[in-house]
Amino acid sequence: MSESTDPRTLDLAAFPADFAWGTATSAYQIEGAVAEDGRTPSIWDTFSHTPGTIDNADHGDTACDHYHRWPEDVALMKELGTDAYRMSVAWPRVVPGGDGPVNRAGLDFYDRLVDALLAAGITPNVTLYHWDLPQVLQDRGGWTERATAEHFAAYASAVATRLGDRVTRWATLNEPLCSAWIGHLEGRMAPGLTDLTAAVRASYHLLLGHGLATAAVRAAVPGAEIGLVTNHSTIAPASSRPEDVAAARRADGHTNRWWLDPVYGRGFPTDMRELYGVELPERPGDLELISAPLDWHGLNYYFPETVADDPAGPVPHARAVRLPDVPRTGMDWQIDAGGLEALLLRLTEEYGVRKLYVTENGCAFPDAVGPDGAVHDPDRVRYLEQHLAACARAVRKGAPLAGYYAWSLLDNFEWAYGYDKRFGLVHVDYATQRRTVKSSGRRYAEIIRAHRADRD
Ligand code: IFM
Repeated sequence: MSESTDPRTLDLAAFPADFAWGTATSAYQIEGAVAEDGRTPSIWDTFSHTPGTIDNADHGDTACDHYHRWPEDVALMKELGTDAYRMSVAWPRVVPGGDGPVNRAGLDFYDRLVDALLAAGITPNVTLYHWDLPQVLQDRGGWTERATAEHFAAYASAVATRLGDRVTRWATLNEPLCSAWIGHLEGRMAPGLTDLTAAVRASYHLLLGHGLATAAVRAAVPGAEIGLVTNHSTIAPASSRPEDVAAARRADGHTNRWWLDPVYGRGFPTDMRELYGVELPERPGDLELISAPLDWHGLNYYFPETVADDPAGPVPHARAVRLPDVPRTGMDWQIDAGGLEALLLRLTEEYGVRKLYVTENGCAFPDAVGPDGAVHDPDRVRYLEQHLAACARAVRKGAPLAGYYAWSLLDNFEWAYGYDKRFGLVHVDYATQRRTVKSSGRRYAEIIRAHRADRD
């Protein structure tokens, strides 16, 4: 079976000439070297070393060893023909004490990486927080405390001051929903709490941290382009019963509106405040910080959701319904590229976003190196094509999409699922650290080349 279709079947002409073609990763998922050059433990070191939290008792101690192999990884990005790379900086490398002194050696690593990216013609898009809070701050309450938001801004300022002469594109947070809801309410991610009050307070302080860090980066880097990266799903009711329709509205509040309304000047949604019943630690001026204008918004999209009323279940009392006979990834996530199109249009039309990136989109499958030495991943090729086609449709309908970052450059540490879930365009053999570009990586390169050819 052919793994790819002719690039011309994709409407690449929909994308602007300067469309950013990228890949994405995050620090804890790829770097390893957790105790090198002054780095201290993050909440993910603690969580992943807690028995029973991660499949196969995996952890990020070595991960893809990117901390040492980054030149090879930059060469891979170049081989794919990408011109953008979304990476994150590890707070415990840069400010090992959580607040206070900056660790020059930690920043040196990112300094070298940024130089190498630029030399390869690849524009870095730097995320300041992709879930690796210094454990010392968690010991003082973590994101449930306002001080953490303030320390985040100080750390952001240190990174921006050092890299800002070369890095223009910045994101404050990655997927605060996961930090707050999955980390503090569902307990499936670090710090592993199951406490609604802690979760709501964390959600508030994460968004406050976003606002404070936005101001800090703007002050440090004139001309910085600052965005926020949030993950969303389309939410459909399981039936037309009013109870299911109301459940879908609540799930939409929990997954989408809670994270977008305050950032786009609407405040925290009243229905959700009432549902959570937790007093927000608000202070005058906070909302102005949280809703300060952004230069772009990053959408991470993976799957749609269908929900039914679940009055006895946890907040938001909406139970995910597993649809039969729909295509799914190795994560058991439903594949529906139409959801990406719908969310890009919602951000454009409902929230007035004027510049968008798809900052993550991808799928896990159990890929393996075949006897021919190649990794054939036709399901990922199809997924990529379908989602790029959805992006093109959204652009034709008016979405100001400026780029797409495939998740992920490399197979990596997939949080509670460990290393078994492979999202990379490049396969990693963890025993040898050998990298092999998958068919999907080759297909992505072909698409990028075709877009450039159209444009020239
Ligand atoms: O691996 C994660 C990433 O860290 C955040 N967004 C979703 C990806 C796939 O689960």
